[in-house]
Amino acid sequence: PSGDAQVIELARTAGLARPEPADMPLLRRRREELRAHIHEGKLDAVRRQHSLGKLTARERLALLLDEDSFTEIEPYRRHQASGPGLAGNRPHTDGVVAGSGTIDGRRVFVYAQDFTLFGGSLGEAHAAKIHKVLDLAVANGAPVIGLNDSGGARIQEGVLALNGYGGIFRRQVEASGVIPQISVILGPCAGGAAYSPALADFTFMVRDTARMYLTGPDVVEAVSGQRVTHEELGGADVHGSASGVATVVHDDEESCLADVRYLVSLLPSNYLDPPPATVPTNATDDYRPRLAELVPVEPNQPYDMRDVFAEVADDGEFFELHEGWARNVLCALARIDGRVVGLVGNQPVVFAGVLDGPASQKAARFVRFCDAFGIPLVSLVDVPGFLPGVEQERGGIIRQGAQLLHAYCEATVPRIQVILRKAYGGAYIVMDSRSIGCDLSLAWPTNQIAVMGAEGAVNVLYRRDLAASSDPAALRAKLVAEYTEEYLNPQYAAERGLVDDIIDPAETRAAVARGLAMLRDKRKPAPGRKHGNLPI
Ligand code: HXC
Repeated sequence: PSGDAQVIELARTAGLARPEPADMPLLRRRREELRAHIHEGKLDAVRRQHSLGKLTARERLALLLDEDSFTEIEPYRRHQASGPGLAGNRPHTDGVVAGSGTIDGRRVFVYAQDFTLFGGSLGEAHAAKIHKVLDLAVANGAPVIGLNDSGGARIQEGVLALNGYGGIFRRQVEASGVIPQISVILGPCAGGAAYSPALADFTFMVRDTARMYLTGPDVVEAVSGQRVTHEELGGADVHGSASGVATVVHDDEESCLADVRYLVSLLPSNYLDPPPATVPTNATDDYRPRLAELVPVEPNQPYDMRDVFAEVADDGEFFELHEGWARNVLCALARIDGRVVGLVGNQPVVFAGVLDGPASQKAARFVRFCDAFGIPLVSLVDVPGFLPGVEQERGGIIRQGAQLLHAYCEATVPRIQVILRKAYGGAYIVMDSRSIGCDLSLAWPTNQIAVMGAEGAVNVLYRRDLAASSDPAALRAKLVAEYTEEYLNPQYAAERGLVDDIIDPAETRAAVARGLAMLRDKRKPAPGRKHGNLPI
């Protein structure tokens, strides 16, 4: 196609052209005006967007939302600014398509930045539309999803652009714990703009096209002399594995947006509503012999905790968060008996499942999300302790571990702890032990709950005896056996009320489902105070 035909074709693929009733000439004229901003520059920009493997804002919304469910707000909005490139160049939408639609029939509010207009940069009008979407989302108690693809603050609009960002951040913080917030990064997200996804509950990124950093490669080189590419500095894999800024990473936009839809299916619309339930699965009768086979009795043998998640969850399905970051702990949303739960599990295949700073922070944020939105917590424990080391201590493992402790202690949702194998020391306490408020603690018969493992305990308690012994090896073996017999079993904790029941591993799913049913009506009023002081 060429000329007008080309404009219309591009308008159609960009989702701008829609059939209108023939008896509405005024509306049609306005629609034509909307299309008119697809001038040659814009055509090039759309082509460029596609050539980079990126979709347009409207194409993205079409993938994200149910068909024909989008209601747009303020499509005619334009900036009122002047300045290089702005005077006389006032396209409708101002570079952000905003409104509401449905996902699987459930209401969500959305905005999609349009990189083809002013590089998706945010000025006063652009920001006002996002403010409106956030306000409407809170007022309607529905999740908000932001599709980010932007050069950041619109340079020509100066402090008005910065003011616009401030208004977004303030609204996001006010909406925190009220409605779920999802941020999807599909292009650049630079400077202070990166704080919007950082404030969201979930951040998705797409490899090769999405990038997030406070200062780009040029500034980094000027300040530190270090040369680094965009991808190395703030690409999806960096944030998905090293920084933990990205919750989920995808190879392309289609799979990313499909995954956002899946996530929404697991979330409540707001903190007062329950997440959507599916048909109950009769999990309370489920007997899963594979669970015992999955977990080796020998405490140091690794196994993948994901296999345990799959046995416990309905249909073996769970949505894992931060899959590539702090991999020694797993956090996932799943359903048990049709109802959504948050699964937290130590991961023995990564650093033996030890807790370190990042793992504590990852789990803490997840626990707080679940608590804010009424999602019961099931913690599957197999933890050798906190990671010892100079780096960890200097890095603030005390502070970070305290964040997880704080998160669990203040959680008022139903909380079930299942100790699969070992639970030592402070890590035992932190992983939702009875002492910090879990409602139900279940343990497998082979498990070991103690201050520390047998070898370490014997070294501390019997150092002098071992040094004085003519056969220290034999004495050590005897003492280790005695300690194991006395302390390293769930009976000791169960007799003292710290474990509610010792269960057959194969009954884990059924026991958890029964526990969740028992706790379904749990209510625990929050203490009277403004808010606690999370050790961040
Ligand atoms: C105005 C902008 C812009 C911006 C891009 N454009 N960013 N216009 N303000 N911030 C325009 C470009 O001039 C260009 O217009 C069009 O968008 C496309 O940009 P390109 O540079 O051609 O695209 P690309 O090569 O893909 O590079 C994208 C980019 C680059 C990496 C994002 O544009 C860039 O570095 N932009 C500036 C980023 C930045 O420093 N932003 C401010 C961050 S500070 P034409 O007319 O040529 O098509 C910030 C503070 C927030 O955001 C504070 C909150 C507290």
